[in-house]
Amino acid sequence: MTNVSWTHVAKSQMDVPNGEALPPTGNAARLAIMELANMISVPMSLNAVVRLNVADAIWQNGSNKPLSAEEIIPRILPSGGGDPENLQRILRMLTSYGVFNEHINSGDALQRRYSLTEIGKTLVTDENGLSYGAYVLQHHQEELMKAWAVVHEAVVDSSTEPFVKANGGETAYGLYGKKPEMNDLMLRAMSGVTVPFMKAVLDGYDGFKGVERLVDVGGSAGDCLRMILQKHSHIKKGVNFDLPEVVAKAPKIDGVTHVGGDMFDSVPHGDAIFMKWILTTWTDDEVKAIMINCFKAIPIGGKLIACEPVLPDQTNDSHRTRALLEGDIFVMTIYRAKGKHRTEEEYHKLGKSAGFTSFRAIYIDYFYTLLEFGK
Ligand SMILES: C[S@@+](CC[C@H](N)C(=O)[O-])C[C@H]1O[C@@H](n2cnc3c(N)ncnc32)[C@H](O)[C@@H]1O
Repeated sequence: MTNVSWTHVAKSQMDVPNGEALPPTGNAARLAIMELANMISVPMSLNAVVRLNVADAIWQNGSNKPLSAEEIIPRILPSGGGDPENLQRILRMLTSYGVFNEHINSGDALQRRYSLTEIGKTLVTDENGLSYGAYVLQHHQEELMKAWAVVHEAVVDSSTEPFVKANGGETAYGLYGKKPEMNDLMLRAMSGVTVPFMKAVLDGYDGFKGVERLVDVGGSAGDCLRMILQKHSHIKKGVNFDLPEVVAKAPKIDGVTHVGGDMFDSVPHGDAIFMKWILTTWTDDEVKAIMINCFKAIPIGGKLIACEPVLPDQTNDSHRTRALLEGDIFVMTIYRAKGKHRTEEEYHKLGKSAGFTSFRAIYIDYFYTLLEFGK
């Protein structure tokens, strides 16, 4: 995947498997199941390095100079203490997942030093205070972790989400609404993931032509609209629509009005509606209801532009397929037991059922696909 051009990558190219060996047998199969059974060490260690702010400590305003665990410890724990050996164990393991580069000095006393790979750099805080770190933290909060212990419940009884069962009947969005620290982290997590994605979309997508009033449904802090309006001056008005408690925290953005509401009741009108990472979270009936409200909110000739993770038809071991399938289980466990990542064809059918007459899927980003539904 690394030598494929970033824009307009053919869908077939995106789905190329990692291309390693044949399925393991015997000894290799026993090894593979041990790797899977211990896999929890990977995300939890990633969470640990984000909590400890290791990426910023190594990055040091761009130096990315390889540092030993002993050298990192005082930077992440300035008031003293810390166990460099245990930090090194974590860094070593995450090196094997491509987060760090390991530099070994093969002198008398073997010393390991670590710098950030391109993957590790996504955890570095940028000039706006953003990184993918908040997304990692969001996924590993205690309330979400409790749900992972009962994923099997989504199979036993899918009428309630594992998250709801594990959190005394509360939904994830219900808890975000009640706990400001969860709500804040969700906003930061969304911004950290959305801003780099939107940069790629704005370079490669031409679908905003002719739009003067654009509504972002579930727009969170309004990052998408801010970036779209900066790039397309012909869009005179942006409406950032989200739950009241979410827009209450959203910053002021030139040209953008924040509107609180519930997309299941209605959606503010516009020439086009944009949404990112919304439909995935809901059941087919709920997606249809959201799409019908979007359909009602745009004129003939208007469109709904949805950016969603879209599953490939085939199952393979590519990073893309895995990231999409893993996200699908996240949705099932945390948000909606029958919410899901869908295929292009499934989205096409849902759009038709809501009244949309045209459809196209645009593959710019490896994780999100742009789905354009025309009225
Ligand atoms: C996964 S986040 C995506 C946020 C943003 N579009 C992005 O990609 O960065 C889903 C968003 O949908 C919003 N949302 C959830 N239920 C909603 C509802 N009933 N009406 C409006 N927005 C809702 C959430 O508050 C959240 O901001």
